[in-house]
Amino acid sequence: MSLLTLWDLERKDISKLMEYAEYFKQNRYGHDVLKNKNIALIFESPSTRTRISFDLAVNELGGHSLTLNHNEIHLGKKESIEDTARVMERFVDAIVARVKKHDTLEELDKNSKIPIVNALSDLAHPCQILADILTIKETKGFKSIDEFKGLKLSYFGDGNNIANSLIIAGAILGMDVFIATPRSYEPNGIFVKKALEIIEKYGEGSLTLTNDAKLAAKDADVLYTDVWISMSDVNKDLETIKKIFPPYQINSSLMELAKEDSIVLHCLPANKGMEITSEVFESKNSYVFDEAENRLHAQKAVLKYLFE
Ligand code: CP
Ligand code: NVA
Repeated sequence: MSLLTLWDLERKDISKLMEYAEYFKQNRYGHDVLKNKNIALIFESPSTRTRISFDLAVNELGGHSLTLNHNEIHLGKKESIEDTARVMERFVDAIVARVKKHDTLEELDKNSKIPIVNALSDLAHPCQILADILTIKETKGFKSIDEFKGLKLSYFGDGNNIANSLIIAGAILGMDVFIATPRSYEPNGIFVKKALEIIEKYGEGSLTLTNDAKLAAKDADVLYTDVWISMSDVNKDLETIKKIFPPYQINSSLMELAKEDSIVLHCLPANKGMEITSEVFESKNSYVFDEAENRLHAQKAVLKYLFE
């Protein structure tokens, strides 16, 4: 099994992953679930959290990690992605890859029998969102995954890989998800369609795409934002972005509309003063560093799950 997007999972899978993540958070060391397993970590783009957390997760579960910068291997340049996958499956037991184009993950998956894990693509960031679910569960004190039902989670800013993955997670867990973006910066249409299908399947939750940040902020339980220009956005013009995006900044006036005990999440790295003010970032509502730490525990859960 691979994890390219969250729609590979069902509610019961996320429940299991949270159980594992919570266990690993309580019991960090002394595991051997990856004994004699070699995991390749490929990075086509920079990373702090994902790189460190996967490296530590593999090693703390008793496995061996190989971190491979894409410039040091032939991936898609001197050798096709197809052949790279066919070679790598002879050496390693799984590939965790951060890629510029989501298609690269699909190609790796299609041409190998080992699990492929999306460590961020232009379209999705499933491992991040699993850490976010853990953070919400902890801070809200939920005992079970069923308690996510009806939670209002609002995302502000660019309809990027994080937004795409959040709408899928929200649909699976029955949350009421609001995505507030400027016009033409909505999440990817395929992810929206998938989210709506999942909402229909479970008969719970909702997805609202809006250009009205205040509507999204009103009575929100969770407020989430991310950078206005992502790693894959090589053609976005900063000056244009600075004109269009400010109404979607998470700041104190937006926070006043949210619930008193609302929490603020950001996958990081953050551009303070752009998508979020320093004041909110540093406020008691902000759980961004717990969220970052939870990458480690969530990554361990993913790795254990994939090898079961
Ligand atoms: N949130 C996240 O994926 O961070 P990195 O880019 O540092 O891995
Ligand atoms: N949307 C951001 C997420 C970084 C973790 C990016 O893709 O750059």
